[in-house]
Amino acid sequence: MKISLQNTTPSENYDVLTKAVLPRPLLWVLSEAEEGFAIAPYSFTNIVSTQPPLVSLAFGIRPGQEQKGTYKALHEKKKAVLHLANEDQKDDILKSGAKGSFYLNEEKLVHEVEGFPPRLKGCPVAMFCTYYDTMDIKNANTHLVICKVEHIFIDEKFEDNRHPLTCVGATGVVTLHSK
Ligand SMILES: Cc1cc2nc3c(=O)[nH]c(=O)nc-3n(C[C@H](O)[C@H](O)[C@H](O)COP(=O)(O)O)c2cc1C
Repeated sequence: MKISLQNTTPSENYDVLTKAVLPRPLLWVLSEAEEGFAIAPYSFTNIVSTQPPLVSLAFGIRPGQEQKGTYKALHEKKKAVLHLANEDQKDDILKSGAKGSFYLNEEKLVHEVEGFPPRLKGCPVAMFCTYYDTMDIKNANTHLVICKVEHIFIDEKFEDNRHPLTCVGATGVVTLHSK
């Protein structure tokens, strides 16, 4: 089957691209919002460079040119904590992907890196990042934001049991098991 993307809609493009590029890393991004620490999932993400250590997040722009809360927080506060998530966090990942900030109770947070927001308990990896750069992508409804990883937390148990949540296809949030 050959599909031409010359006259397709954004949702058709989303459907075919997410079937062609997989799995996608799933980063659960915690940032400081007006009423506390908020978190949201982002899957158009990747490593950009190792020196300096950079990762990217692609932020869609909502109708009416409204920016995502995490995008605004990164530009205002210049910090965010990017997490990998475990299978038992899947429901919260999906809830936090709905519009409206998903705020976290203090009991779910670990404050351990001075000058950065806290990390979320139970996540196997947390990258403490500073804002680095933004690319406004030509003729696209997206901003590509680059973050610099300044510190990283890795749960030692995770080293032997690497099954974080990733994205497959348009809606699949799954763990990958290979033998
Ligand atoms: C699994 C998953 C992956 C997502 N990936 C992205 C993404 O890469 N870019 C994006 O703009 N929105 C993505 N979203 C949607 C955002 O998480 C959603 O718009 C959220 O409300 C943003 O919250 P915020 O405004 O607090 O940042 C994703 C949602 C889910 C459930």
